[in-house]
Amino acid sequence: EIISLKEVYKDYFLIGAAVEVEDLEDGLHRQLLLKHFNSLTAENAMKFERIHPKEDEFNFKDADKIVEFAMENNLKVRGHTFVWHNQTPEWVFKDKTGNEVSKELLLERLKFHINTVCNHYKNKIYAWDVVNEAIEDKEDYVLRKSPWYRIIGKEYVELAFKFVREADPEVELYYNDYNNEKPYKLYKTYDFLKSLLDKGIPIDGIGIQGHWDIYDEGLFDNLKRAIELYASLGLKIQITELDISMFEFENKTREVLIPTAEMLEFQALTYKKLFEIFRSYKGIITSVTFWGISDKHTWKDNFPVKGRKDWPLLFDEKQNPKKAFFEIVDF
Ligand code: G3I
Repeated sequence: EIISLKEVYKDYFLIGAAVEVEDLEDGLHRQLLLKHFNSLTAENAMKFERIHPKEDEFNFKDADKIVEFAMENNLKVRGHTFVWHNQTPEWVFKDKTGNEVSKELLLERLKFHINTVCNHYKNKIYAWDVVNEAIEDKEDYVLRKSPWYRIIGKEYVELAFKFVREADPEVELYYNDYNNEKPYKLYKTYDFLKSLLDKGIPIDGIGIQGHWDIYDEGLFDNLKRAIELYASLGLKIQITELDISMFEFENKTREVLIPTAEMLEFQALTYKKLFEIFRSYKGIITSVTFWGISDKHTWKDNFPVKGRKDWPLLFDEKQNPKKAFFEIVDF
């Protein structure tokens, strides 16, 4: 009998998974969700293009199925996400004549979107990724030059947080990003969030996505430094999209068709060390969400190389626990 991950971690943090509706309909994925997880994130179903595809049309169908499954089975739900440069439909940035929308109209639309979705899920979703991936990767800039930034200006971030707080005074508000434990992004994220907090902008926590790989040598030191800096701002910390790729980002090979024993071993060790770190920040890290359930379905199969199989999760393609699973439940 395999031990339950959420049981093992019940005194530390929530254990989450990103899901599509298909996962709830896949017998084995459903079983894994019920046994090991106590938190869910919609992998795509709550994104702007899915939930609000046209100006006068909301589509809550898939997101509702995920939230209903969670309610029936006592799982918590993280909302993902309101403001992002990806998966936002074109109508949002265009006016009726097809020109770029004005700042006033875009803010009105954002507020309406946030109000509608927040109200729909009030008391069902406990935390929202309010703004996703707004910090620029290039050295010279703090904020990414997305349409949100170009049209509204840098205050779009703080306004988004205010809109969500006004719509739902109870829900926890997160800023979510990738690589925000790496020094190049850590310090600008820290400075930016600090400036917002100093102004009284309601931000409860930071999401560290955690799309890592088995070759990332600086990972553990970077992560500890980041957790401590963010915690010093009084922020809660959640690992929001964890997966450990078998490939270094720059590696575009297609040769590997099954994971080697060495890869599985490295991966298990990486997960083991990561969870040691997570446990050592008990009370600060409040949730660890995997970006998927098993290697049967992972976005890494299409990124950064389309159609290349990867195996970044705790359960294999047959949905059996991997070495990584046994390493993190044994402490
Ligand atoms: O559903 C359509 C299908 O109808 C269509 O035929 C097919 C053709 O491309 O596309 C399908 O949509 C895909 C969708 O995933 C659902 O599978 C999109 O092309 C694809 O781009 C989309 O990828 C998602 C990606 O975000 C898009 O940005 C991944 O599933 C999702 O895991 C990923 O998640 C993001 C987080 O939200 C934010 N952080 C990074 C993370 C990984 O990129």
